[in-house]
Amino acid sequence: MTGFQLITLKDILGAQDCMGATDDEGDVMPDVNNAVMEFLHTRRSRPAKLLQAPAPDREALKPILTAAARTPDHGKLEPWRFIVLEKPALDRLARAVDHCGAETGRSEEDIAKARQQFADSPLCVAVIEVQKPSEKIPAIEQTYSAGAVCLALLNAALASGWGANWLSGWPSHDCDFCQSALGLVDNERVAGFIHIGTASAVPPERPRPDIDAITTWLDT
Ligand SMILES: Cc1cc2nc3c(=O)[nH]c(=O)nc-3n(C[C@H](O)[C@H](O)[C@H](O)COP(=O)(O)O)c2cc1C
Repeated sequence: MTGFQLITLKDILGAQDCMGATDDEGDVMPDVNNAVMEFLHTRRSRPAKLLQAPAPDREALKPILTAAARTPDHGKLEPWRFIVLEKPALDRLARAVDHCGAETGRSEEDIAKARQQFADSPLCVAVIEVQKPSEKIPAIEQTYSAGAVCLALLNAALASGWGANWLSGWPSHDCDFCQSALGLVDNERVAGFIHIGTASAVPPERPRPDIDAITTWLDT
């Protein structure tokens, strides 16, 4: 035996975090993936108003959901789930918006705008934040993870060649609507409605952030 000692991934990460890791799971450093960088530099939503059928069917949506669920999640709590709203459910939600909006005294304009989001959508995935009890993981981190799932879902849909748009609107924040129309329970709320379908027109590009203005480099 020499002074050399083999240190394994298991030694570094600990037995728990390393579960399932094998030597052949991949290279130490990720490959350069220019196609993905090109996508990330040019990606943009397609406004929900411009989305129409066809939308992905269940078979086409499954890999998009799978990609979205591969999202950083501190503590492996999986503080999110999906509700896929197919056309009959979207029509039911549009009616629920009318009912809920009238009950809560919202303006005709607000009700109509929210109703249209569901009535005109070819398919929508509600990303539901599910707060899990944890002594270690703060609630805010579970919220961030749910937001990250929304972006991952949006990007996976766009990268699969669909038009997609992340919307909220007052119904997403209305507890009565969420509980009665979507069946959410107390520890759940809507992180986003991701509408997916076929875009009927190309939207104009919108201004993008000035990276120098929002970036601080600290070297001390
Ligand atoms: C949490 C969240 C909620 C949003 N809700 C709405 C909305 O209700 N209505 C709307 O017109 N845009 C909404 N947006 C903005 C749209 O998603 C918009 O199309 C998007 O910012 C365009 O971004 P992109 O082109 O970089 O994908 C929301 C964005 C986020 C992150």
